[in-house]
Amino acid sequence: MAKITVFDHPLIQHKISILRSKETDRKDFRELVSEITMFMSYEALRDLPLKEVDVETPLTVTKTKMLSGDAIAVVPILRAGLGMVNGLLNMVPNAAVGHIGLYRDETTLEPHEYYCKLPPRIENRQIIVLDPMLATGGSAVAAMNFIKQHGGKKIKFMCLIAAPIGLQVLSEAHPDVEIYCAHLDERLNERGYILPGLGDAGDRLFGTL
Ligand code: PRP
Ligand code: URA
Repeated sequence: MAKITVFDHPLIQHKISILRSKETDRKDFRELVSEITMFMSYEALRDLPLKEVDVETPLTVTKTKMLSGDAIAVVPILRAGLGMVNGLLNMVPNAAVGHIGLYRDETTLEPHEYYCKLPPRIENRQIIVLDPMLATGGSAVAAMNFIKQHGGKKIKFMCLIAAPIGLQVLSEAHPDVEIYCAHLDERLNERGYILPGLGDAGDRLFGTL
């Protein structure tokens, strides 16, 4: 079974509540997606690889640890995952960024791939896949399949809102992928939208409502 972390931190819950509101405008929605991702990253990046470096302080030279930016790949699922990228890059500015383009057929809810470009040496990197919504789980499972086909091995998935079925489907299909979600919601509606959810994340981020 996959390792699943659902956040109960009050700061994250507070921001998720504002994010859900239909009164929240595009500017605030974008800022909140970024901020929540940044908060979540403290926990999700807890075991990031460090490299030893020499640093000269005003008094002496010391061996100390720094992030190995080359070892990390951030991979948003287009489009909505793009909204989370800056939040993560605020924490790991030198991380490489790959992109996977997927859209969900509105009738069948099946994911369709239209783009995949991953950083080199993907097999050696800690990969962090970003998508605010985990609904049926189809898009996340397809993204993990692509990444593994390209050689990716160490993968974490970060989302803001998950449906129970999406968590189950992803963790059963990819038990080696660690999942981090800011909030676990109740269920999907008949059109595959998460309830209570926040609506269509891509449309709210990019103004295509
Ligand atoms: C949304 C969301 C996920 C997917 C989740 O993307 O960002 O990628 O749906 O649904 P699933 O778990 O049932 O697959 P969408 O397909 O609407 O594309 P968009 O980001 O371009 O709006
Ligand atoms: N994709 C979204 O953007 N929202 C949902 O509720 C489900 C899938």
